[in-house]
Amino acid sequence: MPSDLLASSPARAAARASRPPSTRGFPLVGALPRLIKDRFDYLLSARKELGDLYALDLGATRLIALNHPRHAQHVLRDHARNYRKGGPLWEGVRDLLGNGLPTSEGDFWMRQRRMIQPEFHRDRLAAMCDLMVQAIDDGLSGFHAAAAAGRPVDAERELPHITMKVILNTLFGTGITKEEAATVGDALRYANDFLLLGVVLRSLPSWVPSPGRRRFELAVKSIDEHVFRFIAQSRAQPGRGGDLLTILLHSVDAETGEQMTSQQLRDEAVTMFLAGYETTAVALAWALHLLVEHPSVLRALEAEVDAALGDRRPGFADVPRLPLALAIFQEALRLYPPAYWIPRTAIEDDEIDGFHIPAGTMVGVMSYVLHRHPDCWESPETFDPGRFAPERARGRHPLSFVPFGIGQRQCVGKEFAHMEGQLILARIVQQYRVSAVPGRTTRLAIAGTLRTSGGVWLRLEPRAGR
Ligand code: HEM
Repeated sequence: MPSDLLASSPARAAARASRPPSTRGFPLVGALPRLIKDRFDYLLSARKELGDLYALDLGATRLIALNHPRHAQHVLRDHARNYRKGGPLWEGVRDLLGNGLPTSEGDFWMRQRRMIQPEFHRDRLAAMCDLMVQAIDDGLSGFHAAAAAGRPVDAERELPHITMKVILNTLFGTGITKEEAATVGDALRYANDFLLLGVVLRSLPSWVPSPGRRRFELAVKSIDEHVFRFIAQSRAQPGRGGDLLTILLHSVDAETGEQMTSQQLRDEAVTMFLAGYETTAVALAWALHLLVEHPSVLRALEAEVDAALGDRRPGFADVPRLPLALAIFQEALRLYPPAYWIPRTAIEDDEIDGFHIPAGTMVGVMSYVLHRHPDCWESPETFDPGRFAPERARGRHPLSFVPFGIGQRQCVGKEFAHMEGQLILARIVQQYRVSAVPGRTTRLAIAGTLRTSGGVWLRLEPRAGR
């Protein structure tokens, strides 16, 4: 091959590109101790010091941290084929929970996405709205009990019950009994909490006693028994029910004419449940925490809800009439994105911003840092839902806000989560005047998602006439 051709090939160009700057750390553990101690402050200062793209030395492994919207564009949109959900983390999740939409790849993922995505379109959301509001009202029983007893409520504990009810109702329908919902809900929650640890333990031989593994296996067994029974019941019933499982059971891929097997339906239901319930609960916990810290915004939300709904139960037509509720939810997602980074592995050599990215490198779009990028956001640390108003959003980089990811793998549940967030906030402030409990502090905890810890304690005062 002539040398000028070699010189102009993308592989050569990538090889010529320079190595990214790297965080400095200790032998074997790299920057891990500082990351554990200072968490996001460390990542924010690393970006300031090293630039938008740098290597985060984690001892045994390195992560290329991507902190600018143009990187999200490159990795998640323009070159998405070269950046896959590979590596031990995803393989571990796949092994433990099966091959649902969030974990699958290639043609199989595309076929599943073609079948599932239409079920989250506007007309389907309209049909789900009543199921959602009913689940929210059932789920708020913990708030009502606390208010009746004159006790404060911990929203951090209560919200997962509400979002779990929402997703169980919309996935499996109202035919599922309260006992079944409680059993499946507990098992799914345990499986979710165990997941990260489980991925680590998976690399150990199976005879090594590992805390929680047996309970995890039992949880998955219980989930499977229930979900396969729901599937069999849905198959046995003629006609289409309104829940997602029944609809997916009957849907046919327009390109291949294929339908999903029971195993496939189980994998989709379980992974969708896990993708959907905790993320929304965490975002809402932050939203309520921010609201009680900013009473003027809370008063404005009460006014919006009163004008749109009065005492009525909301319906689908009310959702667009709650723009401030949406902006508050979005601003909480900006400041505390539950999926605080979006990991990928490079399949082939590449170049980003002039830096060489060898095949096999783990890269991460750092949503938490990107959502505070000074090129895109004015006073990034300030809670200001008004920044999502169309006139203020104009001119901002479209990828400066990626709590649901972007590109072909963008969250299918985005509009579902928006509607759920708006309706839960509306239903709470419609019935209660909420305020902070003095002396209680909400902290940030990094787990699989960006959780609150220490509780989000709220005082509840029933609103007059409600
Ligand atoms: C505030 C709530 C939510 C947040 C912050 C969130 C966040 C995300 C993110 C960041 C991704 C992309 C991950 C990546 O590219 O690697 C994703 C994917 C996904 N989410 Fe969500 N999500 C939320 C709610 C939901 C809900 C309610 C559902 C289902 C009802 C859902 C189902 C899914 C599924 C199935 C995928 C995989 C899509 C694919 O790979 O094709 N999510 N979510």
